[in-house]
Amino acid sequence: MMKKTLPIDGKFQLLELPYGLGELDPVISEKTLEFHYGKHLAAYVNNLNAAVAGTEWEGRALEDIVVSAAEGGIFNNAGQILNHNLYFGQFRPPCDESEPAGELAQAIAKQFGEFEDFMDLFEKAGASLFGSGWVWLSTDDKGRLEIMQCRNADNPLRHGQTPLLTMDVWEHAYYLDYQNRRPDHLKALWQLIDWNVINQRYLDRR
Ligand SMILES: [Fe+2]
Repeated sequence: MMKKTLPIDGKFQLLELPYGLGELDPVISEKTLEFHYGKHLAAYVNNLNAAVAGTEWEGRALEDIVVSAAEGGIFNNAGQILNHNLYFGQFRPPCDESEPAGELAQAIAKQFGEFEDFMDLFEKAGASLFGSGWVWLSTDDKGRLEIMQCRNADNPLRHGQTPLLTMDVWEHAYYLDYQNRRPDHLKALWQLIDWNVINQRYLDRR
């Protein structure tokens, strides 16, 4: 089962990054991280904490809110926190290397063929998503993989899937570094993916 994120002393906390703000450069600059993590994600956390106070969602796990809340401010902020936690939590500096392994590597090969073909399909799904949203690699509980386009704050959990890997295609994710060149940004992001994290998310799906 995917681990649940509970509020601490009644408040959801800003994710602690497993790397320094300058360590993803030049794929993601320190300046982009300062805004994307330090301003956008922090605002979603503050907004959600304020919005759930006194509602049926107070004290509930983030993942439960994402699965069950109606469309609206509480869902939007909860979705954006979970999406960004999965996004920022899957990176490591570009000099380190890892690759899909074990069961996940076999599932990717079975479903998409060559790893390069999978990357190409994933990038195309991200590039062709109109407006703001997220492209995901997700799995069902049998381990069958899917590339999924989600709009705005949506997450595969809302569709009965477990999220594994994601790329944020909101303009705030890349505009300072890549301006309108979303496809170039998506192609570069592979350099940052910590496949040890993704492999583990796949094993934890059950
Ligand atoms: Fe974002």
